[in-house]
Amino acid sequence: MTQLIVSLDIDDIEKVFYILDQTQDIVDFYKVGTIPFLSFGYRIIDILKERGKKVFFDLKFFDIPNTVRKSTKKIVEMGVDFFTIHLLSGKEVIKAAIEEKGKAKIIGVTLLTSIEKNDIEEIGMGEDVEGMIVRLTQLGVRYGIDGIVCSAKDLPFLRKKFPSIIMVCPGIRLGEVKDDQKRIATPSYASKNGADFIVVGRPVYESENPRQVVKSILKEVESEKGMG
Ligand code: C5P
Repeated sequence: MTQLIVSLDIDDIEKVFYILDQTQDIVDFYKVGTIPFLSFGYRIIDILKERGKKVFFDLKFFDIPNTVRKSTKKIVEMGVDFFTIHLLSGKEVIKAAIEEKGKAKIIGVTLLTSIEKNDIEEIGMGEDVEGMIVRLTQLGVRYGIDGIVCSAKDLPFLRKKFPSIIMVCPGIRLGEVKDDQKRIATPSYASKNGADFIVVGRPVYESENPRQVVKSILKEVESEKGMG
């Protein structure tokens, strides 16, 4: 069944505690990206681990093999469960991360879900967004990554080609919202199409009632399970 990861893109520690207090009995997995990590450092990982939570460490490594190798070592020592690297970094970087990953799972980033055809066209990378996502995923899978980040909209074709890797989907919205996520989908769409995890940030932490939003997401995902 699809699991929820709540993204803590928050720079105010009181707000982090508030979101945790509101949701920790119904959420097992939280995402730590650049915003909380640059705001609170290692403390944010400790806070989550002390509460028995899983950590998706999303710093999206995109660097040379030596740097990614040493960075991977550091985060494995911190006890994170999932972490991300850009698959565009190439096979040597992927291999370096694989060698150091220990028990953590590597989730590859193909193209950011905020990117559209126009964006890759503008920089001369062609216009075949799907083809690029597939090729980057194939590269990652060839060298042993555990999963990918992908838009839920891409699940129908990706699941066919890659039936068994972990698929983590951000860009999840409960209704019609206009923000910087361009390829968005609902929790039930993601669930129905084979997402292992959905990542939800703003709809939860910007809400007046984060607990209620989490409950609605869980209910939506749960009802898909019944229908499947
Ligand atoms: O606030 P929102 O629900 O859009 O948060 C989505 C989270 O997922 C953000 O932390 C963003 O950095 C992350 N993410 C993404 N697209 C990717 C990889 C990560 O939106 N391809």
